[in-house]
Amino acid sequence: MPSWEQIDAVPGWFSFQSFCVWRAFLEHQADITGDLFEIGVWKGRSASMLASYRKGDEKLFLCDRRLDETVIETSIRSVGTEPKNLQLVEAFSIDLPARLDLQAMYHSVRWCHIDGEHTGTAVYRELELANRIVRPDGILVIDDFFSPRYPANTTEVVRYLEKNPFHFRLVMVGFNKAYLCRPESVPRYMDFMASGMTRSMRRYGWKATIYKTTGPWDMDAVGMDEFIDAAGYQVGPDDDPQHWHLIRPRHVWSPWRHVSRFVKRTLGR
Ligand SMILES: C[S@@+](CC[C@H](N)C(=O)[O-])C[C@H]1O[C@@H](n2cnc3c(N)ncnc32)[C@H](O)[C@@H]1O
Repeated sequence: MPSWEQIDAVPGWFSFQSFCVWRAFLEHQADITGDLFEIGVWKGRSASMLASYRKGDEKLFLCDRRLDETVIETSIRSVGTEPKNLQLVEAFSIDLPARLDLQAMYHSVRWCHIDGEHTGTAVYRELELANRIVRPDGILVIDDFFSPRYPANTTEVVRYLEKNPFHFRLVMVGFNKAYLCRPESVPRYMDFMASGMTRSMRRYGWKATIYKTTGPWDMDAVGMDEFIDAAGYQVGPDDDPQHWHLIRPRHVWSPWRHVSRFVKRTLGR
């Protein structure tokens, strides 16, 4: 995997903190096979990270209104990865539905990063596209979420989520990016953030504090920020900081119901 020094040598905006967060999530996706997709590539800084985590036959789609193939391939090679299975699409994101084979790409993408125009119109349409292509267990990342420079980027993501509650849910906000997944994958990613994620990130030489200040009955996302000693790695609600409220599966069948079901089946009733 690339070192931060290798990624940092590629011009662009992708931060050290996002490098650590992406590593943790991308390694957690080791059991998922699916393509990787980015809108807003510039010189290939975050794309080099994705290229390093591409496995087997997975494709890496890189879309930008202006693409320099040589520069992007050089960036990917500079982080120690051979640029394979690259699908470069030079287009405005609004035109992507006409440029991609959306039927073939239906629910095929495990990682989708939106870092393009940052206007409300563009991001809303990019979310519509993401809904077509992201897998049920995939992750969708939106850049410059909560950024004061691009308020429409945040308001339109929230508007999209309100209008389409069964497309995506917000699961994490941290270091200028929002992380979303399908509603049915919220337990998977929440469990990871409550257990293995901070451990993974410590292995890369970095610590963060994850705040889960409310529960599943509410806007159930967590926030991540620089590590605070007094808070530790994980913090719950302000009035109960040592607990996280999570959705967990619960066994609802008593042993007696199993026995009576077995008897009924055996007697054919
Ligand atoms: C902030 S840069 C991307 C940074 C990159 N992800 C990195 O790791 O450094 C934004 C990119 O979005 C592209 N872009 C802007 N508007 C776009 C649009 N409507 N459709 C496609 N690409 C767009 C720009 O050409 C630029 O390369």
